[in-house]
This record gives sequence, structure tokens and C-alpha cells, in this order.
Amino acid sequence: MVKRFWLAAVLVSIAVAAQAADGPTLERGKELFESTKLGTTGKSCASCHPGGRKLEWAATYDVGKLTGIVNKCIEKALKGNPLDPAGNDMQSLIMYMKTFAGPGK
Ligand code: HEC
Repeated sequence: MVKRFWLAAVLVSIAVAAQAADGPTLERGKELFESTKLGTTGKSCASCHPGGRKLEWAATYDVGKLTGIVNKCIEKALKGNPLDPAGNDMQSLIMYMKTFAGPGK
């Protein structure tokens, strides 16, 4: 019984540590925003939204709405495959887009 408790505790802390290491990051978001690999047109988000142009208000949208818009831009504007809305890539992109928050831009 006691042994099993410790095993569970160890497994949980490993899982938490792994998640922290692989979680969404600003760096990953910036990399994806500037990457031409999200689509097949040779463009990146930054090609059409340099410096976050037109994204000033995106950070104020709710996350569900934002993931939908981002995937629309990936599918229509970049001709790529949509990202998993709950995945690290999407969450990283959103984290990075929040740095463009307006007003005043
Ligand atoms: C080929 C050009 C193009 C590319 C590439 C592109 N977008 Fe867009 N995006 C647009 C246009 C056009 C709009 C509509 C903006 C407007 O006129 O209000 C838009 C709108 C958006 C909006 C909504 C802004 C708002 O406030 O309504 C978000 C968020 C967004 N794009 C994110 C992205 C992300 C993230 C990527 C990369 C995965 C991306 N876009 C790639 C052209 C592009």
C-alpha cells in the first residue's frame, strides 16, 4: 500500500516535469509564426502579419474563437493542415500572438 503510494507519487511528478518541459512556449510560438512549414505556399504568418499587423485585437478574443481563426488562416492562407486546438503548437502560437496586443499599434 505504502509502496504503491510512492510509485504513484513518482509517476505523477515525472508526468508534471515532462509536461512543463514540453509545454507551450513563447519561443516555439515565434518560431511557428515565422515558419514557412505550417503551410505549402512558402509563406508564414509573418509574411501577412509582419510585426503582428492586424493581430492587435486577436489577443482579446476567446481562445476557442482564436484557434478557429488561426486554423482558417493555416488552411486558407497557407494551404496547410490545421493544428490541434489543444496542442502545444497552437497554444504556443496563441501565447506569441498575445504579445501583439493593442491598442496603440
Ligand atoms: C496570405 C496571407 C495570410 C497568412 C499567411 C496568414 N494570414 Fe492571418 N489573416 C489574413 C487576412 C487577410 C486576415 C483578415 C484580416 C483583416 O483584414 O481583418 C487575417 C486574419 C487573421 C486573424 C484575425 C485577426 C482579427 O483581429 O480579426 C488572426 C488571429 C490571424 N489572421 C492569424 C494568423 C496566423 C497565426 C497565421 C499563421 C498560421 C496567419 N494568420 C497567416 C491573411 C493571412
